[in-house]
Order: sequence, then C-alpha cells, then structure tokens
Amino acid sequence: MALAVTGTTGEWRKKIEGRTARIGVIGMGYVGLPLMLLFSEAGFRVTGFDIDEKKVTTLNEGGSYIVRIPATEIQAAQRAGFRATSDFAAITEMDAVIVCVPTPLTDFHEPDLSYVQATAEAIAPHLRTGQLIVLESTTYPGTTEEELIPILEAKNPQGLHVARDTQAEGFYVAFSPEREDPGNDTVARRDIPKVVGGAGQVAQELAASLYGTIFNRTVPVSTPATAEMTKLLENIYRCVNIALVNELKQLCERMGIDIFEVIDAAKTKPFGFQAFYPGPGLGGHCIPIDPFYLSWKAKQFDFRTRFIELAGEVNTAMPYYVIERTADALNEHEKALKKAKVLVLGMSYKRDVDDLRESPSLTIIELLRQKGAIVSYNDPYFPYVGQGRHYHLDMHCAPLENLGEYDCVLIVTDHSDYDYERIVRESKLVVDTRNATKGIVSEKIVRC
Ligand SMILES: NC(=O)c1ccc[n+]([C@@H]2O[C@H](COP(=O)([O-])OP(=O)(O)OC[C@H]3O[C@@H](n4cnc5c(N)ncnc54)[C@H](O)[C@@H]3O)[C@@H](O)[C@H]2O)c1
Repeated sequence: MALAVTGTTGEWRKKIEGRTARIGVIGMGYVGLPLMLLFSEAGFRVTGFDIDEKKVTTLNEGGSYIVRIPATEIQAAQRAGFRATSDFAAITEMDAVIVCVPTPLTDFHEPDLSYVQATAEAIAPHLRTGQLIVLESTTYPGTTEEELIPILEAKNPQGLHVARDTQAEGFYVAFSPEREDPGNDTVARRDIPKVVGGAGQVAQELAASLYGTIFNRTVPVSTPATAEMTKLLENIYRCVNIALVNELKQLCERMGIDIFEVIDAAKTKPFGFQAFYPGPGLGGHCIPIDPFYLSWKAKQFDFRTRFIELAGEVNTAMPYYVIERTADALNEHEKALKKAKVLVLGMSYKRDVDDLRESPSLTIIELLRQKGAIVSYNDPYFPYVGQGRHYHLDMHCAPLENLGEYDCVLIVTDHSDYDYERIVRESKLVVDTRNATKGIVSEKIVRC
C-alpha cells in the first residue's frame, strides 16, 4: 500500500516525480556509470563520486573508459547536469545516494568490505535528514543492517539515526542489488526488474519510487537482508549449474560425447531445464566471488554451504583441466608443452566485454608459463595487460597474423569479432574451450 504523501516523504516523492531530486552515485565503475546514465536520461541531475581521480577527470572531460559506453553518452549526461567529483562534501546536496563500490574477496577468500565501510565513513559526515542511501554492491545478508547503518549512525556529527517509520526523523536506507549482465543485449536494462529491500516501510517506498523512474518494474521484499540474499541466490544458482556442466563436460570427453550437442538437445525441453555452458573456468566480479560471501557468513550460523564449496572446487579446477588437455593435444602433435609457442585468444572473462577481473585466461597464462610454454595473447579489448590484484603479466597483444608460427592457438574467450574459420585454417592446432569453432570440421580442432 502506498504511503500518504505527507511530510518529508511527500516532499521527497514530489522531487522524484518532478525530477528535481539530486542523485549521487558512488563508484563510477561497470555498475555505477551505466546507472548514472539511466538516471540522467530519465531527467535527473546526477553527481558521480569516485576516489579514482583519473576516472573523475575523464568523465568531466566528457570521456568514457568503458568500451560499451560511448563518450557521447557521457557528454549527453553532462548537458543534463552530470558532473563527477571525488569531493564527498557534495553528498549533502544529494537527496538519494546510491553506493556501487567493489566487494571483492581477500587473499584468504573472505569478504572484503573495506570499500563499503570506507564509503559509509565518507558519507556519514555529510548526511542529512530525509536523505535516502541505497547499497547496490553485492554482499552477504546482513551487510546493510550490520555494517552500513551502524557506520552511518555512529559517524555522522549530528547524531542522526535511520528512520524506520513515518513518525521517525533521520535518514533512510535500502539495499537493491544490481542484476546487470554485461555484454548481454537481449534484455534492455529497464526491463530487468529491480529488487528493493528497505530498512523500514518509508525507505522501501522511497527507494521503489526512485527506481520506478528508470525500471519498468520494482520488486519489493521485506528487508535489506532478503534483497541481499536474493542476489546471492541468483549468482549461486549460476555458479552451481556452471560447475555441473563443467563436470559433465569432463565425463563426456572421456565417453566420446559432445557436451555442447547434449546441451543443445536438452534445452529443447520447454520446461524444467535451463541451459548453462561449460568453459575454461569462472570469471568476472560476480560468479567466482559472491557465493563465498554467503559461505563465510554461513559459518556464523554454524552452517556449511556444501553446494557452494563443491561448485567452487569444480570451477576452480577448470583452468588446470584446460592445461592438461592442451598438453595432450600438443602431445598428439609430438610436441611438449615446455617451449611450445601458445597463442591465447581472448583475455576478458567473457565474450565481447572489456573486463579482465578474475578471468580464467590470467590463470591459464600463468599455468602455461609455469610449464615452460612461450605464451602470447590476442584480445581486441586489451592492447596491454600489466598488473592486477592477483596477477602480474606485463604482456602486449600479439597481432592476429602468422598463426602458423604457433604450436597451438588456445581459444579461451570467444569474442564475436574473431573469424574462427580463418583461425582454424591458418593454425597448426586449435584448442577450443568455448565451442567457438562449432560447425567447423577440421582435424586441427580439439574441443575441451
Ligand atoms: N560488474 C558487474 O557486472 C556487476 C553486476 C552485478 C553486481 N555487481 C556488483 O556491483 C559492485 C560494483 O561492481 P563494479 O563492477 O561496478 O566495480 P568497479 O570496480 O567497476 O567499480 C567500482 C568503482 O568504485 C570506486 N570506488 C572504490 N572505493 C570507493 C570509495 N570509497 N568511494 C568512491 N568510489 C570508490 C572505484 O574507483 C571504481 O571506479 C560490486 O559489489 C559488484 O559485485 C557488479
């Protein structure tokens, strides 16, 4: 039931409807930047906050650093009042603040909430009554109530508290997970229903009305923890199903059955089956990481999430399986992996995206190097790959020429720009981890 449009709530909702509400998005990355654009296109004046000065400068100069977001879209947002800043004092001018900062794992595979905590500490001094703070970063159930709200309450100088009902004064808080699937253009962002869990009914109403301006449907849930868990269920569902097909791929290989043909046949069933595809291992900022947020939290409840652990075990082993199969394929060509010249095709964690995070290519290259292979890579999205949180490569993109000089071309990411017919024709040996060469008949291809 909608709340009466009175007091703070009424004023706030009028600002949303009249598009006069000021919206701040914290974290101008893969999630925050497109979100800023949606609000800007809907007629709001948006401020983007980021601690990365290079991003702030690029945006304020009308540029973009994400391939699928053209600079013209940033410039259109600027004309509609968008600006980027690293100065959190501007938070006080905002009516709604949406937090889209990273939630990675530590080296010990535990949740690293330092970005969320640092953001909460940066917001707190500038909080004011009636503001709505929404966390979008993926995290374990309880983060909004146990981490975000306590910091905001403890660190704001005015002693403001979260307002959980219409009578209370203070600020409002909600959790709303980001459900975007980068590189998937089959569903428009507006058409992905937006799950919203408010800390109290007013926060729920405010957040739903805010998101209702850019999403066709909002899905209210009873608490922030329910919304946090919803996102994890979705990603764990994917992680477990990918592990299942990765395991069956290995069995099918031994049995001489093509797993991709099996999946194509199985998915003709009109109910009860959803197709997931095997690959060289998980990548991206979500599926390899998010399930472990829940495993960690479960321990507090003396509970072991066995499906998550097993799926993690199977998926983490996939790059090792790829190395084994590559060595076998080279062996068939009377060539050892040691000193073999291997070209890895595709660095990003999935097709047609410019995102390297947790990409299986990184592990595969490191494993190949450990075995003494001479490794090159090609990826239209990455002219150079240097150092990241868990890798140090220092490699430049090799041209897609003279493929016959490599002992093996290893397809790790199936970018759609590649001409696979040509790649097979010009290579001595192609190991394909993605079924990118489907339909091409050649003895040079080893699918794994
Ligand atoms: N990328 C995806 O496809 C995707 C999809 C769904 C959910 N998510 C979740 O969304 C969140 C953000 O992911 P992302 O892919 O946009 O990350 P990202 O690394 O692309 O962007 C995060 C941005 O936050 C900035 N930042 C870090 N600390 C900050 C601070 N204290 N104050 C201000 N800015 C700060 C970084 O400089 C960076 O620009 C994560 O929790 C992720 O799990 C991501």
